[in-house]
Amino acid sequence: MYPGLVHAHSGLRWIALVLLIAAVFTAIGKWQGRSGYTDGNRKLYLFTLISVHTQLILGFVLFFISPKVNFSLLSDKLYRFYSVEHTTGMLIAIILITIGYSRSKRATDAVTKQRLVSIFYGLGLLLILVSIPWPFRIIGANWF
Ligand code: HEM
Repeated sequence: MYPGLVHAHSGLRWIALVLLIAAVFTAIGKWQGRSGYTDGNRKLYLFTLISVHTQLILGFVLFFISPKVNFSLLSDKLYRFYSVEHTTGMLIAIILITIGYSRSKRATDAVTKQRLVSIFYGLGLLLILVSIPWPFRIIGANWF
C-alpha cells in the first residue's frame, strides 16, 4: 500500500500543478482584462481545489506511515524536510487555495471573483513550488 500511495501522491503533483497554473493564468487574464466569469472558469477553479484536496488526503495518510516522517531525527535535513517543511508549506498552500475558492464563490462581481482566485491561488502555487521535494533538491525524490 505504501509504495502505491507514494506513486499516486508523486504523480498527482503534475495534475495539481497543471490545473493550478491554468487557473492562475486564467484568473489574472480575466481580472486584468475585466472580461467576466464563466461556468468554465468556475469548473477549472473547482477541479484545481479538488486536486489539491486529494493531495491533502494522500499526504495525511503518508504522514502517518512514511519512514521519512520522524520527529526524533529533525537534525537530519531529509527528515526535517518531510516531517516539517513539506507538510507545513503544503498545508498553508492548501488553506490559501481553499480560502480563495470560497471567498471567490461568495463574491458577487466578476472582477472580484477573478482577483481573489489570482491572489490566493497564485500564493498557493508559489508555496507549492517551493515545498515540492524536487529531485535536484531532495535526495531520493522522484519526478513521478
Ligand atoms: C498540493 C500539495 C502537495 C504536493 C504537490 C505534494 C507533493 C509531494 C511529492 C512530489 C512527494 C515526493 C514523492 C516521491 O518521492 O516520489 C511528496 C512526498 C510526501 N508528502 Fe506531499 N505533497 C503535497 C501535500 C502534502 C501534505 C499536505 C502532506 C501531509 C499532510 C504531505 C506529506 C508527504 C509525505 C509524508 C511525503 C513522503 C512520502 C515518502 O516518500 O515516504 N504532502 N509530496
